Amino acid sequence: TYGKLIAILPGDGIGPEVTSEARRVLDALDLGLTFEEAPVGGAGYRASGRPLPEATLDLAKRADAVLFGAVGDPEFDSLERALRPEQAILGLRKNLTTFANLRPAKMFAGLEDASTLKPEVANAIDLVIVRELNGDVYFGAKGRGTTEGGLREGHDLMRYDESEVRRIAHVGFQTAAKRRGKLCSVDKANVLETSQLWRDVVIEVAADYPQIELTHMYVDNAAMQLVRNPGAFDTIVTGNLFGDILSDQASMCVGSIGMLPSASLDAQGKGLYEPIHGSAPDIAGQGKANPCAAILSAAMMLRHSLGDGVAADRIEAAVSKALATGVRTPDLGGTATTRAMGDAVLAGL
Ligand code: NAD
Ligand code: IPM
Ligand code: MN
Repeated sequence: TYGKLIAILPGDGIGPEVTSEARRVLDALDLGLTFEEAPVGGAGYRASGRPLPEATLDLAKRADAVLFGAVGDPEFDSLERALRPEQAILGLRKNLTTFANLRPAKMFAGLEDASTLKPEVANAIDLVIVRELNGDVYFGAKGRGTTEGGLREGHDLMRYDESEVRRIAHVGFQTAAKRRGKLCSVDKANVLETSQLWRDVVIEVAADYPQIELTHMYVDNAAMQLVRNPGAFDTIVTGNLFGDILSDQASMCVGSIGMLPSASLDAQGKGLYEPIHGSAPDIAGQGKANPCAAILSAAMMLRHSLGDGVAADRIEAAVSKALATGVRTPDLGGTATTRAMGDAVLAGL
């Protein structure tokens, strides 16, 4: 990892608060990394009039990996869409072609009481959602207008082509192969043409992975099964929108949205790493944010983009240890500040 360049994009709200704890953990490991920081989201808009300033995108492209906080600020919710903070993360994902988003949800020992599920149900959770990140209804044609009858209307096109489905299906199968060998493809093929294509292509790709047990599930049922018996899931592969929703749900099953990290990978293994949560304006600036998701995202960065699985394991073990000592931010039912949680992880290192 010596000399590798990490782009740090803290963003808005709690983004900077949790990213600085992740940075402290990386610094403590003394890996010889170089860090460069740039504004993004609402902070990018304030600095340069655009949510994804050119210099920020350049840095993200130049860097060996990107550590991202969160974007979004109610102050900018009424701007035209192209100028809103959220466009920054969408633009980064698209420009970096990070089409594969891995969102692991694993139960940490001691967090049973933070989960809203029964302890025996929650304890069995060890799954990963492989979410497609460059297509779907997020990137199809969209617009607002007026119908012939004079009614206001809005539309967003849900669309995938087979190459987009094929490449994420491969990531799904390969992820399952490194785990317990079970892949569940989640779609809505009973209603949506996009989903029928998705299912057809996933079945074609399955021919390359005879050792993987493939199942298909409709997304509504998947949402139900995720709270009924989440331990039955190993690897889930799904589209951009369904993966967004199911991963927030999975996060609460393991105790908090503040616990889930993610890796967004391109075909070469370059990646952007971010917690799955947003900028949490309701708690921003109060030292209440749980930094674990951001810290665990840094671990994923070391493992997936920097080839240092040992350091990644160390960070994950340190988070585990910190939680085992009972240090908890408010989302987990405790009173620790963001900084105190970071301190506990550092102590665990
Ligand atoms: P959110 O994830 O920001 O917050 C949802 C709830 O979870 C809030 O009550 C918040 O306080 C809590 N929460 C989130 N992260 C937490 C943490 N680390 N520790 C403790 N509690 C935490 O989602 P939202 O409220 O729907 O959206 C707020 C803004 O964030 C919006 O502008 C949205 O577009 C944006 N957003 C950005 C990203 C991203 O940057 N990738 C992701 C999701 C939402
Ligand atoms: C996420 C967020 C983003 C998404 C938004 C902010 C564009 O919810 O990273 O999960 O929908 O992908
Ligand atoms: Mn989301």
